[in-house]
Amino acid sequence: MATALLSWRRTDGCGTLDEKDLGREVVLSGWVQGTRDHGGLIFIDLRDRTGLVQVAVDAETVPPAVFADAETLRSEFVVAVRGKVRGRPEGTINPRLGTGKIEVETSALAILNASRTPPFYIEEGVDADEMVRLRYRYLDLRRPDMQRTLILRHKIIKAMRDDLDRQGFLEIETPCLTRSTPEGARDYLVPSRVLPGRFFALPQSPQLFKQLLMVAGMDKYFQIARCFRDEDLRADRQPEFTQLDLEMSFVDADEIMAVIEGVMAEVYRQALGRELSVPFRRMSHEEAVNRFGSDKPDVRFSLELVDVSDLAAASDFQVFRQAVDGGGMVKAIRVPGAGTLSRQDLDRLTETAKGYGAKGLAWVIVEGNAEGKANANAAERNATGNAAEPSFRSPIAKFLPGDLLSRISARLGSGPGDLLLFVADRRDTANLVLGQLRLHLARERGLVPEGEDAFLWIVDFPLFEYDEKEKRISSAHHPFTMPKAESIPLLDSDPLAARAHHYDLVLNGVELGSGSLRIYRRDLQAKIFGILGLGREEAEAKFGFLLEAFDYGAPPHGGIALGLDRLVMLLAGRSSIRDCIAFPKTASSACQLTGAPAEVDSRQLDELHLKLRLPG
Ligand code: AMO
Ligand code: AMP
Repeated sequence: MATALLSWRRTDGCGTLDEKDLGREVVLSGWVQGTRDHGGLIFIDLRDRTGLVQVAVDAETVPPAVFADAETLRSEFVVAVRGKVRGRPEGTINPRLGTGKIEVETSALAILNASRTPPFYIEEGVDADEMVRLRYRYLDLRRPDMQRTLILRHKIIKAMRDDLDRQGFLEIETPCLTRSTPEGARDYLVPSRVLPGRFFALPQSPQLFKQLLMVAGMDKYFQIARCFRDEDLRADRQPEFTQLDLEMSFVDADEIMAVIEGVMAEVYRQALGRELSVPFRRMSHEEAVNRFGSDKPDVRFSLELVDVSDLAAASDFQVFRQAVDGGGMVKAIRVPGAGTLSRQDLDRLTETAKGYGAKGLAWVIVEGNAEGKANANAAERNATGNAAEPSFRSPIAKFLPGDLLSRISARLGSGPGDLLLFVADRRDTANLVLGQLRLHLARERGLVPEGEDAFLWIVDFPLFEYDEKEKRISSAHHPFTMPKAESIPLLDSDPLAARAHHYDLVLNGVELGSGSLRIYRRDLQAKIFGILGLGREEAEAKFGFLLEAFDYGAPPHGGIALGLDRLVMLLAGRSSIRDCIAFPKTASSACQLTGAPAEVDSRQLDELHLKLRLPG
C-alpha cells in the first residue's frame, strides 16, 4: 500500500474543499477524527491542518480490501484517500462545517500509520488536564484551536518582519551564550567546559548587544529574540519567552513609539484583517497610578480610584484620620449597582482586599435601587427645591456625619444602589489594593467589554523605585535608561523624584512592552550605577565592555521590546501564554514532554568540573 502511495500526490487540504470542487478527483491525507459505520457504508471524518471533511467508503463501490481496511480505522490513524467530491444529500448537510455541503466518495484508501488511543479527545476546546496536554503536546497541538493560535503567531511575526523591513530595520541575531543582563530576574547559567569554573548566562534580553549594535552604526536593529529569566511563573510569564526587540539611533521617544504603532497596525491588518486606530492614547505614570491604581491599567472600564483623603480626614473614623495624618491616603471606588451585595459578599470582598495587602475595607451602600435612581433623577429634574437627601448604610456611617457622606458620595458620582469601597493606607498600598480590587470586581461583575482592544502608552515613569524588601533603590526599568534632562540635577539630591525617558505599551491591562531612551555617555552611566549601589569595580567587571564602547562615539539611541507571547495571547483571546507557545514549561519551569531539566551523568559533571551538593 505504501508503494501505491508513491504515485499519490496530495491535491487538496481537507478543510479547503467545497461546492466549487464538485465532481473533482482528489487525494487527501490526514488523521482520522472518527468513523461512523452504517453497515455497508463507513463515514470517516478526516482532519488535517486546514480542517475537516467527511469521506464516505461504500462497500458497493470500493474493492473489498479497501472496505476491510476502512473497517479497521480508529481515531488518529493516518490515512490517504483518493476519491471524488460529491454533494451531500439534502438533510445531511452540516452547516457548522466549512466542507459541510460536500463529501468525498472514496475509490482507494491507504493506511499510512496506526495510532494508540490518545489520552484525550483531539477536539476544539477540550478540557483535559493541562499536565496531560503538555505531556502529549504533539497531540494537544493537533487540536484546531491550538493550530489556529500557532498560525496566528506565525502571521503576527510575519507582519512584524514585513513592516520593520519596510521601515528600514535590519534583523540581527545576538548570542544566547553570554554574560548576565540585568532585567531583574535570576540568570540561567551554563558552565564552560573549556574554561573551568566559568559560566555563561543566558540573556534575560538582548539589551546590551542591541546597544552595542547602535555603537556599531547599525542604526535600526530588530530581532525576534528568545529571552531567559529564572523567575516565579504566572499565566503571563515563562522562563523562556520571545520578544520583538528593537533599537534605533538618533531618535526621540516619539519616533520609537510611532515605529511600534506602525508595526501593530500592520499586525492587525495582516493577522486579524482589521484596521487599528493609531496613534495610541498616552497617559503619565502618575495619572495611571492615581486613577487606576496600576502602571498597566485596563482602561476598557471605569471603576476609577478617587482620592477622598480631605473629606475622610474630617470624619470621626480613627482609621481614616490616622491614615491621612500619617501621610497616607483614603481612596475609594464606586461600584455601580453593587449595593445589593450581601453581608457575606462584602466580607468576602474584605478578605480579597486583605489578600492584596489592605488592613481592612470600609464600605458604604447608597440606599435605593436603579429604578429609585431613575425616579430620583426625575424628581430632581422636576424639583424646584433641593433634591431628596440620599441615605446610606454602612458599619462606619456613625463616624461619618450625613453631610460628609453626602459629599463623599457626590465626589464619587454615586446614586442609589451603588456600593462605595474605601481603603485607608499608605499611598502605594491604597492604590495597589484598590487597583487590584477594581480588576477583581470588573471580572466578577462582567464589566469588561469583549472585543475591544485598549492600547495605551504609559509615559514619564520614575527613573528609580524603592525596593522595600531589599531596602535599596533599584531601576524602575533597567540601569541603562536615560533620565529626563530636567531630572539630572535630582540624581544627587532626590533620586527617587527623577523621571525617565521610559515608556510602556499596555494592552487591556497587560504590560505588552517596555522601552526607553538609553544613556550613551560613560560618566552618566557610571553615576547611575553608583546610585544603584554598584561600585566602580563591580560596574567595570560586569559592564566594562559597554562603558568602554561609550568611549568610541556611541550615538544617542533608544528602543523597546514587546512580549510576543503576551501579544499572541491577547490577540488570540487566550488566558495563558502557555497556549501560545508550542512547547511551554510548567509552573515549576519544567518540560512535561521531554522531562527537562534532567539529571546528567557524572562523566558530564566531571567534564564541566562540577560537583553536586543537593539539598538534604
Ligand atoms: P522588559 O524586561 O520589560 O524589558 O521586557 C519586555 C517585555 O517582555 C515581556 N516579558 C515576558 N513575557 C513572558 N514571560 C516573561 N517571563 C517575561 N518577562 C518579560 C513583557 C515585557 O513588557 N530589554 C528591555 C526592553 C528595552 O528596554 O528595550 C526588556 O527586556 O511583555
Ligand atoms: P474596625 O473599627 O477595625 O472594626 O473597622 C471598621 C471597618 O473599617 C471594617 O469594615 C474594616 O474592614 C474597615 N477598615 C479597617 N481598617 C481599614 C483601612 N485601613 N482602610 C479601610 N477600611 C478599613
